[in-house]
Amino acid sequence: MSKSVSRVLTGITTSGTPHLGNYVGSIRPSVRASQSNDVQSFYFLADYHALIKIGEPERVQRSTLEIAASWLAAGVDPERVTFYRQSDIPEIPELTWLLTCVTGKGMLNRAHAYKASVDKNNAVGNDPDAEVTAGLFMYPVLMAADILLFNAHKVPVGRDQIQHIEMARDIAQSFNYRYKNGSKTGDTDHFTLPEAEIEASVATLPGLDGRKMSKSYDNTIPLFVPKAELKKLIAGIVTDSRMPGEPKDIEGSALYQIYQAFASEEETKAMQEAYKNGIGWGDAKQILFERIDSEISPMREKYESLMNNPVQIEAILLKGAEKARQIATPFMQSLRQAVGLRGLSGLQKAIKVENKSAKSTLVSFKQYRETDGLFYFKLVDPSANTLLQSRGFVTPKEAGAAIAKIKTEGIQLDEQTPVYLGTLNVDELNVINTALSQFIEN
Ligand code: TRP
Repeated sequence: MSKSVSRVLTGITTSGTPHLGNYVGSIRPSVRASQSNDVQSFYFLADYHALIKIGEPERVQRSTLEIAASWLAAGVDPERVTFYRQSDIPEIPELTWLLTCVTGKGMLNRAHAYKASVDKNNAVGNDPDAEVTAGLFMYPVLMAADILLFNAHKVPVGRDQIQHIEMARDIAQSFNYRYKNGSKTGDTDHFTLPEAEIEASVATLPGLDGRKMSKSYDNTIPLFVPKAELKKLIAGIVTDSRMPGEPKDIEGSALYQIYQAFASEEETKAMQEAYKNGIGWGDAKQILFERIDSEISPMREKYESLMNNPVQIEAILLKGAEKARQIATPFMQSLRQAVGLRGLSGLQKAIKVENKSAKSTLVSFKQYRETDGLFYFKLVDPSANTLLQSRGFVTPKEAGAAIAKIKTEGIQLDEQTPVYLGTLNVDELNVINTALSQFIEN
């Protein structure tokens, strides 16, 4: 993988219908980033993560379709971007296990999402881990695998995810340290240490009630609702009770903050003026509606056509997975190697190479009579190299008995009969004995 281009990676959990907060905080910045020439983008649907909180299969599937369609409608170009579904990449759960084995349990105890559940249980006197799944506990490790598998440099996320990126760094460091990669060209780490990237201007978008826009607060504006409904929802954003003509505060105004996330600098300044000059809330909401709709409505058509064509989206995702696995599969292979999940044939080769005298396990005994009238035998390999040379025996029967003894017991270094050719060290002897044991089996 080239290190000169910066790799940007982010995922969206497929647990619901995307809303304006997802759009402003994640979808829109990721699409913009992907248009730059010196980044390589990896965007994916985090459906394994969805299983942690969602027990409704249809909802996970539906959300996967909606989020994929939203991303594509917003301008993700699958030719430029590696765009895939997490569960199409078997290397992700595989890597999760390798990372699990270098992750401190104590670190996971401190993860915000897990701690919040424990605190909630403690507050009402429940067992601390009541209703807490191991999936929730392991959430940060799965997320680290998402990121580290593609050696991402930058991970655009919301503020609530910063801790997870820090944990991914920690886990990467532990792995790099435990499995030092001692290549001849100098030490190279297995994993790049990722960094969180927070979109400063729109770190969090407020929802209808002024709190962070989130499905769990039920205060969202779905990204692709029909126009009329968008208008109705915007009309429901909380404001104070000031009348038209009364000056209004931009501070603490959810309406203003949402507007700012869509408007240009100039438009934002104009809105500030309007607040000072006492714009009525109804008028301000109309301006907000028009501003959002002008950005969303060109995408809405594309979204609707994509939603009507799940087969096309499926094909795009499968192609994306193939592209992702061109990186993931060989990388995972090298990680398996690094931790010792290796084929055994390599070991066999090492013995053969170390012992030039035993090129193959196919050895054989040759018996013959010398001019001195005695009976001899030798052990030869297929190239007719003599591995072992006996002393002379008076009768062929004695020579045969010596062969039988070697075949059943192998050769001991201290054994005086038969006589060895040259000097055998322990390793050479082991090779001959290994060869003999195969000979015997055959
Ligand atoms: N946890 C993220 C969220 O809920 C989604 C996610 C899963 C993710 N894996 C990721 C984001 C990897 C960035 C990188 O927002």
